[in-house]
Amino acid sequence: MKFDFQSLLNKITSISKVGDTIAIDLGQSSVKIARIKKAGDVLQLTDWGFIPNGISTNPTGETNPEEVAEVVKSVRSFISSKGIKSKIAATSIMGNFVIVRYVKFPKMSPDELSKSLRFEAEEFIPFDISDVYLSAELIRDIEEEGQPKMEAVLVAAKRDVVDARIGMLREMGLDPMIIDVDGFCANNIYEFCHPDYAGSNVLLLNIGAQMTTLSISEHGTIRVVRDIPFGGNLLSNLVVNAFACDFTQAEAMKKQYGIVPSAELESMSDAETAEQVTMALIQGVDEQLITEMQRSIDYFNTISETGEEVGRVVLTGGGAQLKNLDKYLNRQLDIPVEVFNPLDGIEHPDDAELLENASSFCVAIGLAMRKPGDSSAIRAV
Ligand SMILES: Nc1ncnc2c1ncn2[C@@H]1O[C@H](COP(=O)(O)OP(=O)(O)OP(=O)(O)O)[C@@H](O)[C@H]1O
Ligand SMILES: [Mg+2]
Repeated sequence: MKFDFQSLLNKITSISKVGDTIAIDLGQSSVKIARIKKAGDVLQLTDWGFIPNGISTNPTGETNPEEVAEVVKSVRSFISSKGIKSKIAATSIMGNFVIVRYVKFPKMSPDELSKSLRFEAEEFIPFDISDVYLSAELIRDIEEEGQPKMEAVLVAAKRDVVDARIGMLREMGLDPMIIDVDGFCANNIYEFCHPDYAGSNVLLLNIGAQMTTLSISEHGTIRVVRDIPFGGNLLSNLVVNAFACDFTQAEAMKKQYGIVPSAELESMSDAETAEQVTMALIQGVDEQLITEMQRSIDYFNTISETGEEVGRVVLTGGGAQLKNLDKYLNRQLDIPVEVFNPLDGIEHPDDAELLENASSFCVAIGLAMRKPGDSSAIRAV
């Protein structure tokens, strides 16, 4: 599924190709940059960058100007050090500033929908409709109570947050042409790497530092997208509380131990510490993640067309690297769980920093697969 918002599309050139897009994932803990070349059916990661400082966004969508200035400087120097000439840039958004809804509109032409989208979308969007960019991707025509209708995925993104992101890319010396949504980007690359994606229902979790994007696709069509206020920071803070240590120490302990199975604890010389870390992590996972996953699965089951259950859970984002999270979720939910490394399905350099942070690159790589003008989404005029 491919999205962007109208204001950005006034400069599309028909000559651009996939490799021209510089994808910039502005995360809370780090910035991930990716460029991809397509040779036949093979994707190749041609450029990548990992900038270990990110941009935090407060609940009202504001960012810290010093953090932004630092990131802008780092991205500028990355681009010049790589000698990248293309200016076409893509970024994505998530969190409380984006709403994705699976909706039904009365049957109408794309032109008519474009003109009436604000009106039609109003009932689904909990924001003032004049404060958002709107975009709708048509899925299919249906009939409901004798009336011809169209199913669509509706995306609304807060205008000020999108405009701020556009401003950041411009300050980096780039031309922002694509603004996507984290959950769609992650699904793009997962689908590319897994040709069986459309054969079942997939719950994908992109676990970041501050937020987790949850999506559920039903036979290849995304039906649910939600952002959950769960991430690596929350887990590290629970370790901070358990040990009264500082955040950096907690982050290191979280990465070292992860969720240690009780059978393994017995043979560990530092079993007490490992157990305490495990208990803190499990508390966060149970209360914040599993509860929300279960809620989303229950909701999905009420709207599912096929009546089939979620067939697998896929973990990606930096938080997916938490040791044994896959096994723990599998036990609690009784659904197969896999960890997705987006580098597995594409050609890539064998650089230690890239490999170490591979799952963090999922959104950036999915975003780099986009090119200007490839979206058939209808935007509100
Ligand atoms: N080995 C590991 N074990 C546990 N957690 C890890 C590991 N490696 C990275 N993380 C966590 O992953 C998170 C960073 O992931 P990611 O890069 O996807 O986030 P982000 O994009 O910066 O954040 P957000 O998407 O919330 O804006 C951090 O909280 C970090 O602690
Ligand atoms: Mg992220």
